[in-house]
Amino acid sequence: MNEFTSAGHLEAESRHTGGDFARRHTLTLGIFSSNLSGGLAVTTVPESWSGNWADNLALATMIDTAGFDFMLPVARWNGFNGAGHYAESVLDPVALAAAVLAVTKQITVFSTIHTAFHHPIAIAKQLATLHEIGAGRAGLNIVCGWNKNEYTMFGMDLPSDHGTRYRMGQEWYEIMSRIWRGDAPFEYAGQHFKLGDVTGKPRPPAGRPIPILNAASSPEGREFAVRNADTLFTVLTELEKGRTDVSSFKTQARASGREIGVFTPTYVVCRPTRAEAEDYHRYYADECADHEAVEKLMALQGLHSRSFEPDAYQRFKIRFAGGSGVYPLIGTPDDIADELERISQAGFDGATLSFVNYVAELPLFISEVLPRLEKKGLRLPVEQFA
Ligand SMILES: Cc1cc2nc3c(=O)[nH]c(=O)nc-3n(C[C@H](O)[C@H](O)[C@H](O)COP(=O)(O)O)c2cc1C
Repeated sequence: MNEFTSAGHLEAESRHTGGDFARRHTLTLGIFSSNLSGGLAVTTVPESWSGNWADNLALATMIDTAGFDFMLPVARWNGFNGAGHYAESVLDPVALAAAVLAVTKQITVFSTIHTAFHHPIAIAKQLATLHEIGAGRAGLNIVCGWNKNEYTMFGMDLPSDHGTRYRMGQEWYEIMSRIWRGDAPFEYAGQHFKLGDVTGKPRPPAGRPIPILNAASSPEGREFAVRNADTLFTVLTELEKGRTDVSSFKTQARASGREIGVFTPTYVVCRPTRAEAEDYHRYYADECADHEAVEKLMALQGLHSRSFEPDAYQRFKIRFAGGSGVYPLIGTPDDIADELERISQAGFDGATLSFVNYVAELPLFISEVLPRLEKKGLRLPVEQFA
């Protein structure tokens, strides 16, 4: 019997340290954005990822068996109406997590949640339920807003300043954490929430808190991440800049008495030869790019989000088609393993991977890249931690 099967749930303690899922390997590895049609690739090629349940089920089973650490779905509410199907359909992260947690044994499954669109009392319950279904394998990625069109769709105005977005996020997080801590029914009198007699159960057990991830990039967002998250997820553009960024985030966290992990998203084109990998990258991310959707994505992120430096948009246009602007890993299994090693040496604790077609391309990564990462001491063999 584990702590989730006993009738009385253990009460959560005062502070969150839900980073355990990320402490098994030197380099934690997850899969990102598989719940979105297209994944991260903004392309018109026919093999592009469906994002549907059947394919996510196949993917989840594959990565659970291969020893990956986590799955991170995105939260997206509208698409880009380009020639391809990028972001046209997006499975709901909470519903997906429930199904995936029920059929897997190892991976942590994050739910990405917008503070503006979901009430914290409802999310406290939903995430605690997921944690119970997965016997301690639920995680939460908190988004405090950047996509103005989605706010319009919900009948809201995206606050123009990051201060307001993240102050509201802080209240949201405090309400949820107090429920999880098992505070006696409490009143909450904030600027954005005024609540009475708040309580909730189930709650995450004290010894197994729900890991919190945040991908902010503005100074206000970074303060939020450093205060509340176990892991900060940040876009890498160049390794040297990444090294400086990681060091400054960790220093900022330590100054407030916290240790925080730093992860980065990547997209992978792994082929037996470098020429094959580069040719395929050129084919899907240039020749067959969904140029209309790429322009819309870049404009939207440039306008309302600070995920990227301003000049990154023009310099890295092919990266937006190839993987929504994240860091490319293109080449042979040796190239990919070497680049992941450099990412680790730059100070990153983890990375996510995305592929044009996750299920078709992962077998090569699993059979050829994972053993190389084990040889480099970045990952333990599956049998050592299963
Ligand atoms: C790797 C990564 C994943 C993200 N996932 C989502 C998501 O699923 N949905 C969403 O609306 N925003 C997502 N974001 C946006 C961030 O939460 C954040 O709003 C953005 O990086 C801008 O930072 P800022 O809010 O500090 O300006 C993601 C960002 C990054 C870098």
